[in-house]
Amino acid sequence: MLAVPLGGALVWYLGANSLGELHELAGNALFVLALAHAALALFHHYVLRDGLLVRMIRPHSA
Ligand code: HEM
Repeated sequence: MLAVPLGGALVWYLGANSLGELHELAGNALFVLALAHAALALFHHYVLRDGLLVRMIRPHSA
């Protein structure tokens, strides 16, 4: 999550163009990971009903 925007800034501001493709790949991988994370959170909430999403939102509730 930190490396993707940092890498993008290196390409943009320092002209580290060789990092461009890696930045693109890492950005897309992060997007797929975020999408899978959200989908699995909804699966836990509506199918497994194990309270995982509630714990994610309120980590310190009982
Ligand atoms: C979480 C934050 C970011 C994500 C998920 C992300 C994702 C991406 C993706 C998917 C591409 C490929 C776009 C395409 O051509 O289809 C891209 C390209 C690019 N991004 Fe980012 N980006 C992020 C932050 C940044 C930041 C902060 C900068 C600059 C300050 C930046 C600069 C660039 C540049 C210069 C390219 C073109 C690279 C090249 O073609 O060689 N990005 N980014």
